[in-house]
Amino acid sequence: MAVIDMAEAMARVPQKGFLDVELDPTLDLFAEIERLKKEKNAIVLAHYYQEPDIQDVADYIGDSLGLAQKARDTNADLILFAGVHFMAETAKILNPTKKVVLPDLKAGCSLSDSAPPELFARWRQQYPDHIVVTYINCSAGMKALSDIICTSSNAKAIIDSLPADQPIIFAPDKNLGAWLNKATGRNMVLWNGACMVHEIFSLEKISKLKLRHPEAKLLAHPECEEPVLQLADYIGSTTQLLKYSRTDASQAYIVATETGILHQMQKDSPHKTFIPAPPNNACACNECPHMKLNTLEKLYLCLRYETPELTMPEELRLAALRPIDRMLEISQAAGLLG
Ligand code: 13P
Ligand code: SF4
Repeated sequence: MAVIDMAEAMARVPQKGFLDVELDPTLDLFAEIERLKKEKNAIVLAHYYQEPDIQDVADYIGDSLGLAQKARDTNADLILFAGVHFMAETAKILNPTKKVVLPDLKAGCSLSDSAPPELFARWRQQYPDHIVVTYINCSAGMKALSDIICTSSNAKAIIDSLPADQPIIFAPDKNLGAWLNKATGRNMVLWNGACMVHEIFSLEKISKLKLRHPEAKLLAHPECEEPVLQLADYIGSTTQLLKYSRTDASQAYIVATETGILHQMQKDSPHKTFIPAPPNNACACNECPHMKLNTLEKLYLCLRYETPELTMPEELRLAALRPIDRMLEISQAAGLLG
């Protein structure tokens, strides 16, 4: 394989955000990754939207809540986070003594980008008596401006735990916020952000698919737009959708979330049929381009050279930790932590 030393590896990171190295194609990456995990006492945490190979080498695959919990509780010395930047940031916030690395530092998130902290801080001044509940898909800077964080697994329980007369701002996802307003009977003020993947589904094409597959249930993530959610038979976080597909009696499903989740759905229920919900054009837009920046090759290099590393100023970390801790306390009380 192409040999580079540590100094060279480090030198390549700032320009590229990942190690731009040609690998020997005969290298057994699966075996090498297993060897390196043991050698370094490392854990690989992966989100369901990662490519199948990455899911297959992960020690834990989960949704944002499960991953945050695993990152907080692990005894590993090195956390390799196969997901996007805000997820690795959350791991570092929760477990600061561990080294946190992610295969590509440029793996961002359109939803997180839709809420720049400086803009949000100015905007929220119009609502001085509102508390801020923020979806975990945001930067550490946004978390530091929030009162409570939530994920799609616990958002309803978090909102329900607040006094009925408490005015709330919900950010950054307007679709999840609108769905929560309906589900909780609240009238939260919504920040105008959205996920590029969950807004791309075509209602018309999904309706036609449903006609062609009348037996198939529509499973949707609450980041989808309201017309898609109205058609859905079940709405939930990635973990909740996976669990539903495993335990429900139907044999076929149309899945309106990022296509990576189909890998686990199919593994868990090999006899069932899973159809990705179609986007409103011909591209593979129901794949998250940020999540898919991570590859098995980059994961291997990241584990081998322990870079790029996620770091953050301690002051910011502590400010972002407070609303995450509140989320975990409420989730614990609601019996939502595994
Ligand atoms: P969950 O896995 O928490 O449902 O989040 C989905 C998502 O969009 C992550 O980026
Ligand atoms: Fe962000 Fe959407 Fe990609 Fe999730 S799927 S990381 S919310 S852009």
